[in-house]
Amino acid sequence: MEISLEDDNDISSPHFQYEGAHKAFRDRWEKTDETMCRHSMSFHLHHTMRTDFFVSYLYLLEKIPLVKLFPVTCEYIEGEKQFYYRAQQFYEDVPASEEGMMGDFVEISNVDLEGSRQFLKKFVGPGKAGTHCALDCGSGIGRVTKGVLLPVFDTMEMADMMEHFLLHAHEEYLGDDADRIETYYCYNLQEFTPPKNKYDVIWMQWVACHLTDKDLMNFLIRCKKSLRSNGVIIMKDNMARQGCKLDPIDSSISRHLDIMKCIIHKAGLEVLAVERQEGFPEVIMPVWMIAMK
Ligand SMILES: C[S@@+](CC[C@H](N)C(=O)[O-])C[C@H]1O[C@@H](n2cnc3c(N)ncnc32)[C@H](O)[C@@H]1O
Repeated sequence: MEISLEDDNDISSPHFQYEGAHKAFRDRWEKTDETMCRHSMSFHLHHTMRTDFFVSYLYLLEKIPLVKLFPVTCEYIEGEKQFYYRAQQFYEDVPASEEGMMGDFVEISNVDLEGSRQFLKKFVGPGKAGTHCALDCGSGIGRVTKGVLLPVFDTMEMADMMEHFLLHAHEEYLGDDADRIETYYCYNLQEFTPPKNKYDVIWMQWVACHLTDKDLMNFLIRCKKSLRSNGVIIMKDNMARQGCKLDPIDSSISRHLDIMKCIIHKAGLEVLAVERQEGFPEVIMPVWMIAMK
């Protein structure tokens, strides 16, 4: 068998062909400006590299597995429909009470409400968000509405997927203050579009964990449009110590704070403040409050 070394000047050699293709590609790339890119695949590639790739890279540096980063939650949760169906089934059996809203941890409800009141104070008042109207998302029976929001806002609206929670709020739990609830929305947040330019504060507590990354991002985009000037969105939720953690019982997914910030950023929102809830037992997952606009 004859063995020959490749001749760089031989135009039939693979090396020559690859180099030719490489040069042609490089020349085209150099002449490509943003406007031209916008109409071609290269723009998408360029955009993906600038955003997703570098964000992913940062996570890799932090040793957070890439698979847990993004809208792949759908894979992670083994199917979006199952994920939402299981949560629906779970809450059907949950009693309309403070115990029901807090799972096994009703004793930390007061500490939680006090932490929320202190955090809210920072964003409401002269030169900040107004006190006309707030929306409580995933409100349940209105534990947060009653303990944090009604003392501050003239009127309130509540949104939750479970009718029996909202009925209990209106008929019993909120007492006379129920008169100040303008509307109860019985909706899944992933399908709900709140009215535009309406709220000074939108509160989301222990419900972001029930939405997939994609639905959470899209819901935040819609919430942004419903804020009045100086309005803020406040999210309070369990944040995983690492990556993501699925609870298959109530069908919730806890994300690392950085992953949550990434979703918020992708929704076009700016994080104003981040604070960990103090005073909770060490055994439970860290709970963080994030204010954004
Ligand atoms: C753990 S409870 C928290 C209730 C309330 N935010 C609190 O802190 O007391 C979660 C609430 O989110 C609601 N929820 C869960 N998934 C939802 C979804 N996809 N759309 C709307 N509400 C949802 C449940 O019905 C339940 O009322």
